[in-house]
Amino acid sequence: MSVSFLSECKEKVLNRIDILIPDKNKITASMRYSALADSKCVRAGLIFASGNLNKEISDSSLIDMATSIELMHTYSLIHDDLPSMDNDNIRRGQASNHIKFNEATAILTGDALQALAYETIASSPDLTHEQKIESIKALSSACGHKGMILGQQYDLDAENNEYNDIQKIHELKTGKLIQVAITLPHLGNDKQNNKQEILHDIGKDLGLAFQIMDDVLEASSNSTILGKSNKSDIANHKLTYVSEFGKEAAIEQAHALSNNCISKLNNSFVLEEIKDLLSLAKFMVERKN
Ligand code: IPE
Ligand code: IPE
Ligand code: MG
Ligand code: MG
Repeated sequence: MSVSFLSECKEKVLNRIDILIPDKNKITASMRYSALADSKCVRAGLIFASGNLNKEISDSSLIDMATSIELMHTYSLIHDDLPSMDNDNIRRGQASNHIKFNEATAILTGDALQALAYETIASSPDLTHEQKIESIKALSSACGHKGMILGQQYDLDAENNEYNDIQKIHELKTGKLIQVAITLPHLGNDKQNNKQEILHDIGKDLGLAFQIMDDVLEASSNSTILGKSNKSDIANHKLTYVSEFGKEAAIEQAHALSNNCISKLNNSFVLEEIKDLLSLAKFMVERKN
């Protein structure tokens, strides 16, 4: 992956967040603390890379979509780290939000970031009404009770052996947001319908591959490299691809999914327009953190 592509995406998103969340009070300080912290911005990267396939969408629209996705993702991480969830004390190389502030503020911060994610798309000046509605519909569906939140519930249930479909957990808790990121730049525009379907399909595999590698990294790397705790999967008796299949088989599955996405991209699009998507598909499984 060209490091510069993701760092350019990250710069655009962080600049936008800096403007959207002025430091005014305790809640905005807490939102900025987590949303501006060091992260990979992979989901933002997917939006910009997928945006290359839609010549009609403006840079400012892509920046707002990418910012929205990263705000949503940051909210999910703050809640995921809470003592009643994964109980993790480190995130993005610093104290988790509830450690730095407190649990109640962390909950409210997540809520506020989620609301701002929707507001950012709804207020984006170049998007048509149709694009805004379709984007917000897709994003809310990906993150709600049929998507990420259901996945998080299944993930918790699996700790007590009350749920055991690991693929479903990963497709929901992590895959849905990644899948919506890759499709967002094409929604609400009839001319993009064909691309939308192909990208939706590719996004599903990419999301699953990304979470499988998250399991592998947690089991094989360390907290300093990851910028987050690597003890909670074991401590919480999590069901993961590593606990289910072993590390080598998990890595193999993630690479197979990524290769499948690369083939589908190559078969469906012109190389010039998918260079960044191809690099991201590789990066998702070759990353070190
Ligand atoms: C971590 O996501 C949580 C998962 C859903 C796997 P990332 O690995 O993208 O975390 P950041 O955004 O770079 O911190
Ligand atoms: C996080 O999954 C998924 C969401 C935040 C929705 P994990 O709990 O497996 O990710 P990490 O390891 O804490 O980043
Ligand atoms: Mg979790
Ligand atoms: Mg976690």
